[in-house]
Amino acid sequence: MRQSTSPGPRAHHLLPDELAHLHEVANRSLFTQFAELCEGALIVDRQARVVWMNEKYPLRLGLRDPAAAIGQPVEAMLPNSQMREVVESGRPIMLDIMDFGSESFVVLRLPLRNEQDEVIGGIGLMLLDDAKGLAPLVSRYHQLHRELADTRSKLAEARRAKYTLASIVGHSHACLEVKSQARRAARTGAAVLIQGETGTGKELLAQAIHNASLRADKPFVAVNIAAVPESLLESEFFGAAPGAYTGADRKGREGKFRLADGGTLFLDEIGDMPTALQAKLLRVLQEGEYEALGSDRLLSTDVRIVAATSRDLSKEVQEGRFRADLYYRLNVVTLTMPPLRERMDDLPLLCEYLLDALCQRMGMVAHELSAGALEALRQHRWPGNIRELQNVLERALMMADTDVLQAGDIRRILGPSTTAAPDAPTEEAEEAAAAVAVKPLSAAIAEAERQAIRDALRACDGNKARAASLLGISRTSFYEKLSTLQI
Ligand SMILES: Nc1ncnc2c1ncn2[C@@H]1O[C@H](COP(=O)(O)OP(=O)(O)OP(=O)(O)O)[C@@H](O)[C@H]1O
Ligand SMILES: [Mg+2]
Repeated sequence: MRQSTSPGPRAHHLLPDELAHLHEVANRSLFTQFAELCEGALIVDRQARVVWMNEKYPLRLGLRDPAAAIGQPVEAMLPNSQMREVVESGRPIMLDIMDFGSESFVVLRLPLRNEQDEVIGGIGLMLLDDAKGLAPLVSRYHQLHRELADTRSKLAEARRAKYTLASIVGHSHACLEVKSQARRAARTGAAVLIQGETGTGKELLAQAIHNASLRADKPFVAVNIAAVPESLLESEFFGAAPGAYTGADRKGREGKFRLADGGTLFLDEIGDMPTALQAKLLRVLQEGEYEALGSDRLLSTDVRIVAATSRDLSKEVQEGRFRADLYYRLNVVTLTMPPLRERMDDLPLLCEYLLDALCQRMGMVAHELSAGALEALRQHRWPGNIRELQNVLERALMMADTDVLQAGDIRRILGPSTTAAPDAPTEEAEEAAAAVAVKPLSAAIAEAERQAIRDALRACDGNKARAASLLGISRTSFYEKLSTLQI
Protein backbone atom coordinates (compact mmCIF):
# COMPACT_ATOMS: atom_id res chain seq x y z
CA MET A 1 0.00 0.00 0.00
CA ARG A 2 1.02 3.58 -0.50
CA GLN A 3 1.68 4.82 2.93
CA SER A 4 1.57 8.56 3.18
CA THR A 5 3.15 8.75 6.57
CA SER A 6 5.47 6.29 8.11
CA PRO A 7 5.53 5.66 11.83
CA GLY A 8 7.88 8.10 13.50
CA PRO A 9 10.15 7.26 16.38
CA ARG A 10 7.45 8.25 18.89
CA ALA A 11 5.27 5.33 17.87
CA HIS A 12 7.68 2.75 19.26
CA HIS A 13 6.13 2.51 22.68
CA LEU A 14 4.01 -0.34 21.31
CA LEU A 15 5.01 -3.95 21.53
CA PRO A 16 6.65 -4.75 18.18
CA ASP A 17 4.07 -7.41 17.31
CA GLU A 18 1.15 -5.13 18.06
CA LEU A 19 2.61 -2.44 15.85
CA ALA A 20 3.20 -5.00 13.17
CA HIS A 21 -0.40 -6.10 13.48
CA LEU A 22 -1.68 -2.58 13.02
CA HIS A 23 0.46 -2.11 9.96
CA GLU A 24 -0.75 -5.40 8.63
CA VAL A 25 -4.31 -4.07 8.83
CA ALA A 26 -3.20 -0.97 7.02
CA ASN A 27 -1.61 -3.04 4.33
CA ARG A 28 -4.50 -5.31 3.51
CA SER A 29 -5.55 -4.59 -0.02
CA LEU A 30 -9.30 -4.53 0.61
CA PHE A 31 -8.73 -2.14 3.43
CA THR A 32 -6.49 -0.02 1.26
CA GLN A 33 -9.12 0.30 -1.39
CA PHE A 34 -11.69 1.24 1.14
CA ALA A 35 -9.40 3.75 2.82
CA GLU A 36 -8.81 5.39 -0.51
CA LEU A 37 -12.53 5.93 -0.91
CA CYS A 38 -12.57 7.74 2.38
CA GLU A 39 -11.87 11.39 2.81
CA GLY A 40 -9.97 10.43 5.88
CA ALA A 41 -8.76 7.19 7.41
CA LEU A 42 -6.84 6.99 10.62
CA ILE A 43 -5.43 4.32 12.90
CA VAL A 44 -4.59 4.94 16.53
CA ASP A 45 -2.95 2.71 19.09
CA ARG A 46 -4.36 1.63 22.41
CA GLN A 47 -3.35 4.96 23.99
CA ALA A 48 -5.17 6.79 21.19
CA ARG A 49 -1.93 7.94 19.63
CA VAL A 50 -1.84 8.34 15.87
CA VAL A 51 -0.18 5.42 14.10
CA TRP A 52 -1.21 5.95 10.52
CA MET A 53 -3.36 8.15 8.23
CA ASN A 54 -4.23 7.92 4.58
CA GLU A 55 -3.00 10.54 2.13
CA LYS A 56 -6.12 12.67 1.98
CA TYR A 57 -6.52 13.16 5.68
CA PRO A 58 -3.63 15.53 6.32
CA LEU A 59 -4.78 17.61 3.33
CA ARG A 60 -8.30 17.76 4.73
CA LEU A 61 -6.96 18.83 8.11
CA GLY A 62 -4.53 21.31 6.62
CA LEU A 63 -1.58 19.59 8.32
CA ARG A 64 1.68 20.84 6.89
CA ASP A 65 3.80 18.16 8.47
CA PRO A 66 1.76 14.93 8.70
CA ALA A 67 4.74 12.96 9.91
CA ALA A 68 4.86 15.10 13.05
CA ALA A 69 1.35 13.93 14.00
CA ILE A 70 2.46 10.31 14.18
CA GLY A 71 2.88 9.22 17.76
CA GLN A 72 0.95 12.22 19.07
CA PRO A 73 -2.32 11.90 20.99
CA VAL A 74 -5.13 12.04 18.44
CA GLU A 75 -6.64 15.09 20.12
CA ALA A 76 -3.54 17.12 19.24
CA MET A 77 -4.63 16.84 15.64
CA LEU A 78 -8.41 16.51 16.06
CA PRO A 79 -9.43 18.21 19.31
CA ASN A 80 -12.92 16.67 19.26
CA SER A 81 -11.88 13.19 18.25
CA GLN A 82 -13.78 10.35 19.87
CA MET A 83 -11.18 7.70 19.07
CA ARG A 84 -10.01 7.62 22.67
CA GLU A 85 -13.50 6.66 23.77
CA VAL A 86 -13.50 3.82 21.25
CA VAL A 87 -10.17 2.35 22.33
CA GLU A 88 -10.97 2.78 26.01
CA SER A 89 -14.45 1.27 25.86
CA GLY A 90 -13.69 -1.25 23.12
CA ARG A 91 -17.03 -0.30 21.55
CA PRO A 92 -17.44 1.04 18.05
CA ILE A 93 -19.22 4.27 17.22
CA MET A 94 -20.75 3.07 14.01
CA LEU A 95 -22.27 6.13 12.44
CA ASP A 96 -21.72 9.67 13.39
CA ILE A 97 -21.82 12.94 11.53
CA MET A 98 -19.02 15.41 11.80
CA ASP A 99 -19.02 18.91 10.37
CA PHE A 100 -15.82 20.08 8.80
CA GLY A 101 -16.11 23.67 7.68
CA SER A 102 -19.20 23.75 5.50
CA GLU A 103 -19.18 20.03 4.71
CA SER A 104 -20.66 17.13 6.65
CA PHE A 105 -18.96 13.77 6.82
CA VAL A 106 -20.17 10.43 7.96
CA VAL A 107 -17.72 8.94 10.42
CA LEU A 108 -17.22 5.35 11.49
CA ARG A 109 -15.00 4.41 14.41
CA LEU A 110 -14.07 0.83 15.20
CA PRO A 111 -11.81 -0.76 17.81
CA LEU A 112 -9.09 -3.06 16.53
CA ARG A 113 -8.34 -6.25 18.46
CA ASN A 114 -5.53 -8.77 18.54
CA GLU A 115 -5.91 -12.54 18.52
CA GLN A 116 -6.61 -12.54 22.26
CA ASP A 117 -9.47 -10.15 21.61
CA GLU A 118 -7.73 -7.33 23.44
CA VAL A 119 -8.15 -3.85 22.06
CA ILE A 120 -4.86 -2.71 20.60
CA GLY A 121 -6.07 0.37 18.81
CA GLY A 122 -8.82 1.82 16.72
CA ILE A 123 -9.65 2.89 13.23
CA GLY A 124 -11.58 5.94 12.13
CA LEU A 125 -13.02 6.37 8.67
CA MET A 126 -14.52 9.54 7.31
CA LEU A 127 -16.79 9.39 4.27
CA LEU A 128 -17.90 12.28 2.15
CA ASP A 129 -21.58 12.98 2.65
CA ASP A 130 -22.62 12.61 -0.95
CA ALA A 131 -21.88 8.89 -0.97
CA LYS A 132 -25.20 7.54 -2.25
CA GLY A 133 -25.73 4.85 0.36
CA LEU A 134 -25.58 7.40 3.13
CA ALA A 135 -28.17 9.75 1.70
CA PRO A 136 -31.02 8.75 4.08
CA LEU A 137 -28.86 9.31 7.13
CA VAL A 138 -27.52 12.60 5.92
CA SER A 139 -30.94 13.82 4.88
CA ARG A 140 -32.30 12.97 8.33
CA TYR A 141 -29.42 14.91 9.82
CA HIS A 142 -30.18 17.91 7.67
CA GLN A 143 -33.83 17.68 8.58
CA LEU A 144 -32.89 17.88 12.25
CA HIS A 145 -30.75 20.86 11.40
CA ARG A 146 -33.70 22.56 9.77
CA GLU A 147 -35.84 21.86 12.81
CA LEU A 148 -33.18 23.38 15.00
CA ALA A 149 -33.06 26.47 12.80
CA ASP A 150 -36.83 26.65 13.03
CA THR A 151 -36.78 26.50 16.81
CA ARG A 152 -34.11 29.16 16.86
CA SER A 153 -36.23 31.41 14.72
CA LYS A 154 -39.18 30.93 17.07
CA LEU A 155 -36.88 32.02 19.86
CA ALA A 156 -35.98 35.08 17.82
CA GLU A 157 -39.71 35.71 17.41
CA ALA A 158 -39.98 35.97 21.18
CA ARG A 159 -37.23 38.54 21.02
CA ARG A 160 -39.32 40.67 18.74
CA ALA A 161 -40.83 43.99 19.81
CA LYS A 162 -44.60 43.83 20.34
CA TYR A 163 -45.65 47.45 20.12
CA THR A 164 -45.96 49.63 17.06
CA LEU A 165 -46.55 53.36 16.84
CA ALA A 166 -50.17 52.63 16.03
CA SER A 167 -50.63 50.64 19.22
CA ILE A 168 -49.48 53.51 21.42
CA VAL A 169 -52.79 54.84 22.66
CA GLY A 170 -53.27 58.60 22.54
CA HIS A 171 -54.48 61.35 20.26
CA SER A 172 -53.57 64.40 22.32
CA HIS A 173 -51.38 66.93 20.58
CA ALA A 174 -48.39 66.00 22.77
CA CYS A 175 -48.78 62.31 21.97
CA LEU A 176 -49.28 62.76 18.22
CA GLU A 177 -46.25 65.01 18.08
CA VAL A 178 -43.94 62.51 19.75
CA LYS A 179 -45.28 59.70 17.54
CA SER A 180 -44.56 61.63 14.38
CA GLN A 181 -41.05 62.52 15.57
CA ALA A 182 -40.51 58.86 16.38
CA ARG A 183 -41.68 57.81 12.93
CA ARG A 184 -39.18 60.14 11.28
CA ALA A 185 -36.34 59.10 13.59
CA ALA A 186 -37.07 55.41 13.09
CA ARG A 187 -36.31 55.59 9.39
CA THR A 188 -32.95 57.33 9.81
CA GLY A 189 -31.39 54.61 11.94
CA ALA A 190 -29.85 57.29 14.16
CA ALA A 191 -29.36 56.78 17.89
CA VAL A 192 -32.42 57.89 19.83
CA LEU A 193 -32.62 59.04 23.42
CA ILE A 194 -36.07 58.81 24.99
CA GLN A 195 -36.67 60.97 28.01
CA GLY A 196 -39.71 61.07 30.19
CA GLU A 197 -40.93 60.49 33.70
CA THR A 198 -41.39 57.01 35.01
CA GLY A 199 -44.31 55.08 33.54
CA THR A 200 -44.86 57.37 30.55
CA GLY A 201 -44.32 54.61 28.00
CA LYS A 202 -40.64 54.97 27.09
CA GLU A 203 -40.13 51.28 26.55
CA LEU A 204 -43.25 51.10 24.42
CA LEU A 205 -41.93 53.90 22.26
CA ALA A 206 -38.54 52.18 21.92
CA GLN A 207 -40.25 49.02 20.62
CA ALA A 208 -42.39 51.07 18.27
CA ILE A 209 -39.30 52.81 16.86
CA HIS A 210 -37.70 49.46 16.20
CA ASN A 211 -40.82 48.21 14.44
CA ALA A 212 -41.02 51.30 12.26
CA SER A 213 -37.36 51.01 11.26
CA LEU A 214 -35.63 49.01 8.55
CA ARG A 215 -34.49 46.62 11.27
CA ALA A 216 -38.04 45.58 12.16
CA ASP A 217 -37.49 41.93 11.26
CA LYS A 218 -34.29 41.73 13.31
CA PRO A 219 -34.09 41.31 17.09
CA PHE A 220 -35.11 43.92 19.61
CA VAL A 221 -33.09 43.35 22.76
CA ALA A 222 -33.59 45.33 25.96
CA VAL A 223 -31.17 45.74 28.85
CA ASN A 224 -32.39 47.40 32.00
CA ILE A 225 -29.17 48.82 33.33
CA ALA A 226 -30.60 49.61 36.75
CA ALA A 227 -31.78 46.04 37.25
CA VAL A 228 -28.47 44.29 36.54
CA PRO A 229 -25.91 44.17 39.35
CA GLU A 230 -22.97 46.34 38.46
CA SER A 231 -20.48 43.47 38.54
CA LEU A 232 -22.43 41.60 35.85
CA LEU A 233 -23.14 44.47 33.51
CA GLU A 234 -20.04 44.07 31.41
CA SER A 235 -20.69 40.41 30.62
CA GLU A 236 -24.36 41.22 30.12
CA PHE A 237 -23.36 43.59 27.33
CA PHE A 238 -20.36 41.94 25.77
CA GLY A 239 -20.72 38.30 26.75
CA ALA A 240 -18.11 36.11 28.39
CA ALA A 241 -15.77 33.44 27.08
CA PRO A 242 -16.13 30.02 28.74
CA GLY A 243 -14.76 30.19 32.28
CA ALA A 244 -14.02 33.91 31.98
CA TYR A 245 -14.82 34.52 35.63
CA THR A 246 -15.69 32.46 38.68
CA GLY A 247 -19.23 31.31 38.43
CA ALA A 248 -19.38 31.99 34.71
CA ASP A 249 -21.12 29.42 32.63
CA ARG A 250 -18.84 26.72 31.41
CA LYS A 251 -20.16 27.33 27.96
CA GLY A 252 -19.64 31.07 28.14
CA ARG A 253 -22.35 33.58 27.67
CA GLU A 254 -23.73 35.53 24.76
CA GLY A 255 -23.75 39.27 25.29
CA LYS A 256 -26.67 41.50 24.40
CA PHE A 257 -24.63 43.15 21.66
CA ARG A 258 -24.34 39.76 20.04
CA LEU A 259 -28.03 38.91 20.52
CA ALA A 260 -29.11 42.26 19.10
CA ASP A 261 -26.79 42.09 16.10
CA GLY A 262 -28.48 43.55 13.06
CA GLY A 263 -31.33 44.85 15.20
CA THR A 264 -31.94 47.32 18.00
CA LEU A 265 -30.37 47.38 21.44
CA PHE A 266 -32.55 49.19 23.96
CA LEU A 267 -30.57 50.62 26.87
CA ASP A 268 -33.13 51.27 29.55
CA GLU A 269 -32.24 53.49 32.52
CA ILE A 270 -29.08 54.60 30.75
CA GLY A 271 -28.54 57.21 33.48
CA ASP A 272 -27.67 54.35 35.86
CA MET A 273 -24.70 53.28 33.76
CA PRO A 274 -21.53 53.11 35.91
CA THR A 275 -18.77 55.42 34.67
CA ALA A 276 -16.29 52.65 33.83
CA LEU A 277 -18.82 51.02 31.57
CA GLN A 278 -19.75 54.32 29.96
CA ALA A 279 -16.20 54.46 28.56
CA LYS A 280 -16.44 50.90 27.22
CA LEU A 281 -19.82 51.47 25.66
CA LEU A 282 -18.57 54.62 23.98
CA ARG A 283 -15.67 52.69 22.47
CA VAL A 284 -18.01 50.06 21.06
CA LEU A 285 -20.31 52.68 19.59
CA GLN A 286 -17.39 54.48 17.99
CA GLU A 287 -15.53 51.47 16.66
CA GLY A 288 -18.29 48.93 16.15
CA GLU A 289 -16.01 46.34 17.76
CA TYR A 290 -15.61 44.79 21.18
CA GLU A 291 -14.20 41.81 23.03
CA ALA A 292 -16.12 39.37 25.18
CA LEU A 293 -14.96 39.10 28.79
CA GLY A 294 -11.95 36.79 29.01
CA SER A 295 -11.52 36.59 25.25
CA ASP A 296 -9.11 38.45 23.00
CA ARG A 297 -11.10 37.93 19.84
CA LEU A 298 -12.54 41.12 18.37
CA LEU A 299 -16.22 40.86 17.53
CA SER A 300 -17.89 43.35 15.29
CA THR A 301 -21.37 44.61 15.93
CA ASP A 302 -24.09 46.35 14.00
CA VAL A 303 -26.81 47.57 16.34
CA ARG A 304 -29.05 50.56 16.48
CA ILE A 305 -29.07 52.09 19.93
CA VAL A 306 -32.21 53.41 21.56
CA ALA A 307 -31.67 54.57 25.13
CA ALA A 308 -34.14 55.73 27.74
CA THR A 309 -33.91 57.59 30.99
CA SER A 310 -36.25 59.18 33.46
CA ARG A 311 -33.48 61.50 34.63
CA ASP A 312 -32.33 64.75 33.17
CA LEU A 313 -29.21 63.43 31.45
CA SER A 314 -27.92 66.84 30.46
CA LYS A 315 -27.86 67.72 34.14
CA GLU A 316 -26.03 64.46 34.91
CA VAL A 317 -23.47 65.52 32.30
CA GLN A 318 -23.08 68.99 33.82
CA GLU A 319 -22.58 67.47 37.23
CA GLY A 320 -19.94 65.07 35.93
CA ARG A 321 -21.86 61.84 36.45
CA PHE A 322 -22.40 61.06 32.81
CA ARG A 323 -19.78 61.34 30.06
CA ALA A 324 -20.51 64.19 27.69
CA ASP A 325 -19.09 62.33 24.67
CA LEU A 326 -21.34 59.33 25.29
CA TYR A 327 -24.31 61.64 25.84
CA TYR A 328 -23.81 63.21 22.41
CA ARG A 329 -23.46 59.80 20.78
CA LEU A 330 -26.74 58.55 22.28
CA ASN A 331 -28.60 61.74 21.81
CA VAL A 332 -28.64 62.21 18.06
CA VAL A 333 -32.42 62.47 18.30
CA THR A 334 -34.19 63.18 21.60
CA LEU A 335 -37.82 62.26 22.08
CA THR A 336 -39.69 63.24 25.20
CA MET A 337 -42.66 61.24 26.39
CA PRO A 338 -45.12 63.70 27.90
CA PRO A 339 -46.27 63.07 31.47
CA LEU A 340 -49.87 61.93 31.81
CA ARG A 341 -50.96 65.16 33.53
CA GLU A 342 -49.99 67.03 30.33
CA ARG A 343 -52.07 64.78 28.12
CA MET A 344 -55.31 64.55 30.07
CA ASP A 345 -57.18 64.57 26.74
CA ASP A 346 -55.98 61.00 26.39
CA LEU A 347 -57.37 59.91 29.75
CA PRO A 348 -60.75 58.49 28.55
CA LEU A 349 -59.14 56.59 25.68
CA LEU A 350 -56.33 55.28 27.86
CA CYS A 351 -58.79 54.14 30.54
CA GLU A 352 -60.91 52.35 28.00
CA TYR A 353 -57.90 50.60 26.53
CA LEU A 354 -56.39 49.69 29.90
CA LEU A 355 -59.70 48.49 31.38
CA ASP A 356 -60.29 46.23 28.41
CA ALA A 357 -56.83 44.78 28.65
CA LEU A 358 -57.02 44.34 32.42
CA CYS A 359 -60.46 42.70 32.39
CA GLN A 360 -59.33 40.31 29.74
CA ARG A 361 -56.18 39.44 31.65
CA MET A 362 -58.08 39.03 34.92
CA GLY A 363 -60.82 36.98 33.28
CA MET A 364 -63.52 39.49 34.20
CA VAL A 365 -66.43 40.81 32.19
CA ALA A 366 -65.74 44.17 30.57
CA HIS A 367 -65.98 47.09 33.00
CA GLU A 368 -66.37 50.77 32.32
CA LEU A 369 -65.98 54.05 34.15
CA SER A 370 -68.78 56.31 35.33
CA ALA A 371 -68.45 59.99 34.55
CA GLY A 372 -67.73 60.58 38.22
CA ALA A 373 -64.94 57.99 38.25
CA LEU A 374 -63.32 59.59 35.22
CA GLU A 375 -63.55 62.96 36.93
CA ALA A 376 -61.89 61.54 40.06
CA LEU A 377 -59.04 60.22 37.89
CA ARG A 378 -58.72 63.62 36.25
CA GLN A 379 -58.09 65.29 39.63
CA HIS A 380 -55.01 63.21 40.33
CA ARG A 381 -51.46 64.40 39.50
CA TRP A 382 -50.23 60.99 38.26
CA PRO A 383 -46.58 61.07 39.30
CA GLY A 384 -46.35 57.43 38.15
CA ASN A 385 -48.07 58.22 34.86
CA ILE A 386 -49.63 55.48 32.77
CA ARG A 387 -48.20 52.68 34.87
CA GLU A 388 -49.79 54.24 37.93
CA LEU A 389 -53.07 54.62 36.06
CA GLN A 390 -52.92 50.97 35.15
CA ASN A 391 -52.31 49.98 38.78
CA VAL A 392 -55.10 52.18 40.09
CA LEU A 393 -57.55 50.71 37.60
CA GLU A 394 -56.45 47.20 38.44
CA ARG A 395 -56.97 47.73 42.15
CA ALA A 396 -60.31 49.42 41.53
CA LEU A 397 -61.43 46.45 39.44
CA MET A 398 -60.53 44.03 42.20
CA MET A 399 -62.62 45.92 44.71
CA ALA A 400 -65.53 47.03 42.55
CA ASP A 401 -69.01 45.66 43.22
CA THR A 402 -70.51 46.55 39.86
CA ASP A 403 -69.49 46.54 36.21
CA VAL A 404 -69.35 50.32 36.19
CA LEU A 405 -66.58 51.78 38.33
CA GLN A 406 -67.80 54.65 40.50
CA ALA A 407 -66.01 57.73 41.82
CA GLY A 408 -65.88 56.05 45.23
CA ASP A 409 -64.07 53.03 43.80
CA ILE A 410 -61.37 55.34 42.52
CA ARG A 411 -61.15 57.55 45.59
CA ARG A 412 -60.76 54.58 47.85
CA ILE A 413 -57.50 53.95 46.10
CA LEU A 414 -56.22 57.41 45.38
CA GLY A 415 -57.09 58.61 48.87
CA PRO A 416 -59.04 61.72 49.81
CA SER A 417 -56.10 64.13 49.65
CA THR A 418 -55.75 63.89 45.91
CA THR A 419 -59.44 64.02 45.22
CA ALA A 420 -60.17 67.58 46.10
CA ALA A 421 -63.07 67.76 43.70
CA PRO A 422 -65.14 70.61 45.13
CA ASP A 423 -68.48 68.94 44.51
CA ALA A 424 -67.48 65.51 45.75
CA PRO A 425 -70.35 64.07 47.78
CA THR A 426 -69.38 64.12 51.45
CA GLU A 427 -70.72 60.65 52.10
CA GLU A 428 -68.31 59.18 49.60
CA ALA A 429 -65.42 61.21 50.97
CA GLU A 430 -66.12 59.86 54.45
CA GLU A 431 -66.36 56.35 53.16
CA ALA A 432 -63.02 56.82 51.39
CA ALA A 433 -61.40 58.31 54.49
CA ALA A 434 -62.58 55.38 56.58
CA ALA A 435 -61.22 52.92 54.06
CA VAL A 436 -57.84 54.62 54.23
CA ALA A 437 -57.72 54.80 58.02
CA VAL A 438 -57.92 51.03 58.68
CA LYS A 439 -55.73 48.80 56.58
CA PRO A 440 -54.32 45.33 56.99
CA LEU A 441 -50.81 45.50 58.43
CA SER A 442 -49.20 44.17 55.27
CA ALA A 443 -50.83 46.95 53.25
CA ALA A 444 -49.71 49.55 55.77
CA ILE A 445 -46.12 48.27 55.62
CA ALA A 446 -46.20 48.28 51.84
CA GLU A 447 -47.51 51.83 51.92
CA ALA A 448 -44.74 52.92 54.27
CA GLU A 449 -42.13 51.31 52.03
CA ARG A 450 -43.67 52.95 49.03
CA GLN A 451 -43.50 56.32 50.72
CA ALA A 452 -39.86 55.86 51.79
CA ILE A 453 -38.88 54.88 48.27
CA ARG A 454 -40.70 57.83 46.74
CA ASP A 455 -39.01 60.20 49.20
CA ALA A 456 -35.61 58.71 48.42
CA LEU A 457 -36.21 59.01 44.70
CA ARG A 458 -37.29 62.59 45.08
CA ALA A 459 -34.23 63.39 47.18
CA CYS A 460 -31.96 61.90 44.51
CA ASP A 461 -33.69 63.38 41.51
CA GLY A 462 -34.86 60.01 40.32
CA ASN A 463 -31.38 58.47 40.45
CA LYS A 464 -32.21 54.88 41.43
CA ALA A 465 -28.66 53.86 42.32
CA ARG A 466 -28.30 56.74 44.74
CA ALA A 467 -31.80 56.30 46.14
CA ALA A 468 -30.97 52.65 46.88
CA SER A 469 -27.82 53.56 48.75
CA LEU A 470 -29.67 56.27 50.66
CA LEU A 471 -32.15 53.60 51.79
CA GLY A 472 -29.32 51.22 52.60
CA ILE A 473 -30.42 48.47 50.20
CA SER A 474 -28.80 47.06 47.07
CA ARG A 475 -29.67 48.39 43.68
CA THR A 476 -31.14 45.06 42.65
CA SER A 477 -33.40 44.72 45.67
CA PHE A 478 -34.38 48.34 45.24
CA TYR A 479 -35.46 47.50 41.75
CA GLU A 480 -37.38 44.47 42.95
CA LYS A 481 -39.24 46.65 45.43
CA LEU A 482 -40.14 49.12 42.70
CA SER A 483 -41.82 46.35 40.83
CA THR A 484 -43.48 44.48 43.73
CA LEU A 485 -44.74 47.70 45.28
CA GLN A 486 -45.79 48.85 41.82
CA ILE A 487 -44.09 52.20 42.08
N1 LIG B 1 -49.76 55.01 25.22
C1 LIG B 1 -49.94 53.89 25.92
N2 LIG B 1 -50.94 53.11 25.65
C2 LIG B 1 -51.15 52.01 26.37
N3 LIG B 1 -50.40 51.59 27.38
C3 LIG B 1 -49.36 52.33 27.69
C4 LIG B 1 -49.06 53.51 26.98
N4 LIG B 1 -47.95 54.04 27.49
C5 LIG B 1 -47.60 53.23 28.49
N5 LIG B 1 -48.42 52.20 28.61
C6 LIG B 1 -48.33 51.13 29.61
O1 LIG B 1 -47.81 51.71 30.78
C7 LIG B 1 -46.81 50.90 31.39
C8 LIG B 1 -45.51 51.66 31.47
O2 LIG B 1 -44.94 51.81 30.19
P1 LIG B 1 -43.37 51.69 29.97
O3 LIG B 1 -42.83 50.54 30.71
O4 LIG B 1 -43.10 51.78 28.52
O5 LIG B 1 -42.94 53.04 30.70
P2 LIG B 1 -41.49 53.61 31.01
O6 LIG B 1 -41.50 55.03 30.64
O7 LIG B 1 -40.47 52.74 30.37
O8 LIG B 1 -41.43 53.50 32.58
P3 LIG B 1 -40.12 53.42 33.55
O9 LIG B 1 -39.42 54.74 33.47
O10 LIG B 1 -40.72 53.20 34.89
O11 LIG B 1 -39.32 52.29 33.07
C9 LIG B 1 -46.72 49.65 30.53
O12 LIG B 1 -47.48 48.65 31.14
C10 LIG B 1 -47.32 50.07 29.21
O13 LIG B 1 -47.92 48.97 28.58
MG1 LIG C 1 -39.00 51.54 31.28
